[in-house]
Amino acid sequence: MNNILEVKNLQVSYHTYAGEVKAVRGVDFSVSEGETLAIVGESGCGKTVSAKAVMGLIQTPGVIKEGSEINYGGKNLVAQPESEWEKYRGGECAMIFQDALAALNPTLSVGKQIAENLIIHRNCNKREAMEKAVELLEKVGIPEADKRVKQYPHEFSGGMRQRVMIAIALACNPKIIIADEPTTALDVTIQAQILELLKELQKELKTSIILITHDLGVVADMADQIAVMYSGKIIEKGSGRDIFYHPRHPYTWSLLNAVPRLDGDRKKNLVSIEGTPPDLLLELKGCPFVERCAHCMNICTRQAPPTFTFENEHRATCWLHHEKVQGEYPFETGGALCVEKA
Ligand SMILES: Nc1ncnc2c1ncn2[C@@H]1O[C@H](COP(=O)(O)OP(=O)(O)OP(=O)(O)O)[C@@H](O)[C@H]1O
Ligand code: SF4
Ligand SMILES: [Mg+2]
Repeated sequence: MNNILEVKNLQVSYHTYAGEVKAVRGVDFSVSEGETLAIVGESGCGKTVSAKAVMGLIQTPGVIKEGSEINYGGKNLVAQPESEWEKYRGGECAMIFQDALAALNPTLSVGKQIAENLIIHRNCNKREAMEKAVELLEKVGIPEADKRVKQYPHEFSGGMRQRVMIAIALACNPKIIIADEPTTALDVTIQAQILELLKELQKELKTSIILITHDLGVVADMADQIAVMYSGKIIEKGSGRDIFYHPRHPYTWSLLNAVPRLDGDRKKNLVSIEGTPPDLLLELKGCPFVERCAHCMNICTRQAPPTFTFENEHRATCWLHHEKVQGEYPFETGGALCVEKA
């Protein structure tokens, strides 16, 4: 399948009083039409910064560093003027944020907020845009859409507000939707409904989705590809099946251990990952996971691990896969978390 978005060597830094925070340190990923890429990792690993970079939303003191590429429609957007970004943002690629209340404008009716995008990107007049807004609210499952379209964000429940965010993102029929922790603030039932809605819409509209989460469990039955991020880098990437059945990186093993399993011993406590990620102000010499890794070897402290490629373009950046390292993989999930896509 052809990639519609290709991100290469993305590096984003924040110049702060304390020094340069290297938030994203050379990240590569791509998405093809109708595909879901999940970006998974702990708090602070650079998921949102990567997403904002792809949306052209990095603001001072942040910079996208030279050598970074965000390729869309035959162009590297990093090298384009703001006018190109404006066409792409909202029109071609839209973002759904975790906190819908903060992302929505409290002083505008939801209808006007949906219509805004249609007027800017699709040359609709106000009446057409409002009609389309009602259709979109219906599409995302908001009852009495013709009345609700005139209401303000505070008049909606958390789950309904997230549906409004999805309607805004869908307004211009974008090719890509980036959903940054879209369900974290919601309770479990509503969470499942929102993910189901995203899946249905994706099937119907063939939109590509970049789904960002700290919880591998959330993406188990949705992601075609999974990129696992740690301290500003992608340390493992593969198909959903490979990540769940044959994970190759100790950090991914820890993340999988932290997901509740239906087939496991329910009395067993969930395993949290001990320790903290490295300070992003520091230059890292060896493997970034070294302080927390149960499989750490001498070389891991001295030299950054190379990336090893396995079948099906599954990749992992860890010394354990070097030919000189003997032993069996200490972790197999049996894929119990993975529900294969129909
Ligand atoms: N405006 C900023 N100024 C300085 N540092 C920043 C800024 N924005 C982000 N960072 C730093 O970049 C790093 C990555 O942040 P990011 O928001 O991408 O994390 P995340 O993976 O999305 O985490 P979470 O799961 O908590 O949302 C963090 O260490 C953060 O402190
Ligand atoms: S390179 Fe070494 S420290 Fe890093 S994850 Fe692999 S085994 Fe652990
Ligand atoms: Mg984030």
